[in-house]
Amino acid sequence: MNKKLNDVAQMMVTPGKGILAADESNATIAKRFNQIDLECSEDNRRNYREMLFRSSDAMKNYISGVILYDETIRQKSETGEYLTAIIQESNSLVGIKVDTGAKPLALDNSQTITEGLDGLRERLNEYYNLGARFAKWRGVIEISKDNPTPYAVKSNAQALARYAALCQEANIVPIIEPEVLMDSKNSIHNIKECERVTTWVLNTVFQELSDADIELEGIILKPNMVIPGKFCKEKSSSDEIAEKTLKCLKETVPHAVPGIAFLSGGQNDIEATRHLSMVNSASNNPWNITFSYGRALQHKSIMTWAGKTENIPGAQNVFSHRAKMNSFASLGKWNFNLENND
Ligand code: G3H
Repeated sequence: MNKKLNDVAQMMVTPGKGILAADESNATIAKRFNQIDLECSEDNRRNYREMLFRSSDAMKNYISGVILYDETIRQKSETGEYLTAIIQESNSLVGIKVDTGAKPLALDNSQTITEGLDGLRERLNEYYNLGARFAKWRGVIEISKDNPTPYAVKSNAQALARYAALCQEANIVPIIEPEVLMDSKNSIHNIKECERVTTWVLNTVFQELSDADIELEGIILKPNMVIPGKFCKEKSSSDEIAEKTLKCLKETVPHAVPGIAFLSGGQNDIEATRHLSMVNSASNNPWNITFSYGRALQHKSIMTWAGKTENIPGAQNVFSHRAKMNSFASLGKWNFNLENND
């Protein structure tokens, strides 16, 4: 076993801590800035992310690592400090999104394949020198009447395995993110369908990782929860979501994997926290299970900030609160009263 990779993976899922996904592409962060009527300029992207990374309560106590976008890993604050240095000063790890996005699968416009393998060996070496100790690659699987097809599931799983091998070769821990979408326009599937497809996808991913000789002790899995699609008419209780999520993970994820860090996927802040806590309140989980949230950690903070310097302390408080609530959830100790008594 590569001890260095395992040490980093263990740090990423330190009990009581989780990962901040701040790796939105420029197109995605533009949509978030649109909500606060803010221009998506390089300076505004820098100012927003610097505000998050300087939230010392959150960063020191609840965030084990931050996933960055290519622009951010190279960016300096107005006072000339690398944003990566601000993250490292809080004892948090620097991570980097290395895929170049989900593109239409050739001859099948209804599904996607994630790209970014060409030149990845060289990019990973550069990112290591810029401070990255872990990376992220997201494969996207959409459920609809005819999809996903076995070919799309296998192709995305194989790309994840090829990425993971290149990461481990570069001494970088790969986050393996095969996301079964809950929030696309076609997401009318019920929880059972999500369970079936997520189980299939995770089994395929772990088969491909095994074929590629990936050391499972040096990866982190970032899955979706087992949850109905956003436009499904049959609602599911939080108990059922937690129970089916855990069952699916127990059936598919080898115990050698050190940690699982969920994406939020379109759940609101409280749902994402509640479900994480309920998954963790079950006994005998073989892995540390935590959060690697984007929207569910940042939504309120970005709205409070609204692009204004005078709102920075308020936005940082909101971010710290959300990170603290998810820290409780990662220990299975969150309840709704904590939301108001923090
Ligand atoms: O790839 C997706 C992000 O890393 C997680 O974002 O929590 O908003 O789904 P999300």
